[in-house]
Amino acid sequence: MLVVGGGGREHAIVRALKRSPQAPEILCAPGNPGIAADATVFDVAADDVGGLADLAGREGADLTVVGPEVPLVAGLVDELRARGLAAFGPRVEAARLEGSKTFAKEIMEAAGVPTATWRAVGTVEEGMDAIDRYPIVLKLDGLAAGKGVVVAADEAEARATLERFLADGAHDNTVVVEEHMEGEEVSLLALCDGETAVPLVAAQDYKRIFDGDEGPNTGGMGSYSPVPGVDDAMVEELARTVHQPVLDELRHRGIAFHGCLYAGLMLTAAGPRTLEFNVRFGDPETQAVLPRLKSDLLELLQRAGEPGGLAGAVLEWDERWAVTVVLASAGYPASSSTGDVISGLEAVVGDVEVTHAGTKVGPGGEIVTGGGRVLNVTGLGDGPAAARDAAYAAADTITFEGRQLRRDIAARAVERTS
Ligand code: AMP
Ligand code: GLY
Repeated sequence: MLVVGGGGREHAIVRALKRSPQAPEILCAPGNPGIAADATVFDVAADDVGGLADLAGREGADLTVVGPEVPLVAGLVDELRARGLAAFGPRVEAARLEGSKTFAKEIMEAAGVPTATWRAVGTVEEGMDAIDRYPIVLKLDGLAAGKGVVVAADEAEARATLERFLADGAHDNTVVVEEHMEGEEVSLLALCDGETAVPLVAAQDYKRIFDGDEGPNTGGMGSYSPVPGVDDAMVEELARTVHQPVLDELRHRGIAFHGCLYAGLMLTAAGPRTLEFNVRFGDPETQAVLPRLKSDLLELLQRAGEPGGLAGAVLEWDERWAVTVVLASAGYPASSSTGDVISGLEAVVGDVEVTHAGTKVGPGGEIVTGGGRVLNVTGLGDGPAAARDAAYAAADTITFEGRQLRRDIAARAVERTS
């Protein structure tokens, strides 16, 4: 098994694969020092399509699991399949669901999936004309590493954002102007075999850097699973009305989606609405979801590669809750501080899983910070309060200069369930 990527999501995937009764040999590129304790890591960058395909071929990988979106959009799965190598993840054509907001909107419209009303615009004036109320949501068409969405409060902010988004001529010079919606956000991931979508359990992530959803957006500061109010029946209903119609619509167009389809949903007063699709496991949702999976992930990923291979799949879940707290380095998200020595990792006890996101090995062999998001601490417990306590107790034993963490991960879940 070759896992592509080097963050917390990939570490959680490696850990889940390690639990497989098939006892696979696990390789990871580029990995990180935490992953290196669970798998053999190779120094090949996650966006080096040719290098990764060479690695999979050379090592005889039976399956390559692609974590991040960049290699998917760059065609890694197409390249692997062209070389006769099995892969978990969509081809370029299907990866456009994440790579292009306008494509995702067109597919949703054609599939009858409820979403915000929208218009694609190519100039600032066209954009301003398309706005009839504030706040309004403006989205860059292409991949923007989480920096491509702005909720503009007024005309001045909308104009400035449109000017900035359309300044460099990138992203096909297209911006999506979208109705602003309100409600609880839920992430629902589904394993897809080209024909059927099999949902995982629901999760919620935290995008802002500070408590109370203040401050700038990040790659994700925490997550938890399950989500109060989203029971098994609702998960099935969401998969039936969101993921499945999208798979069907793609199939009508001759595109088979094999991989993980992630729907970012908003539960509005008028019902669930889809905010976005990602074509991969979510980060940090995966760190809270996979520790709860009791079924064999390896078998599921293999089955997802075969057309209709997931038919009849029944997933088994740990009933416990999982809460993931992200430890970030000083300066994040504007910048990040590297080289800060991390202590306390070996002192972590309890029902917790610590996964590495941005760590590296320092000059003296010690583990130091190596990026913005450094570590993920996932606590498991019989309810949200117990899982939260486990996560924060472990998080507080791990220290480094300038460490940042949110104190309110899953706090509302505790309130809503008590
Ligand atoms: P996206 O990358 O499309 O998921 O957008 C990032 C974040 O922006 C989402 O998680 C929401 O918090 C927010 N957002 C996106 N679209 C909308 C919308 N139509 N209404 C309100 N908030 C939105
Ligand atoms: N948690 C959001 C993402 O994976 O894009």
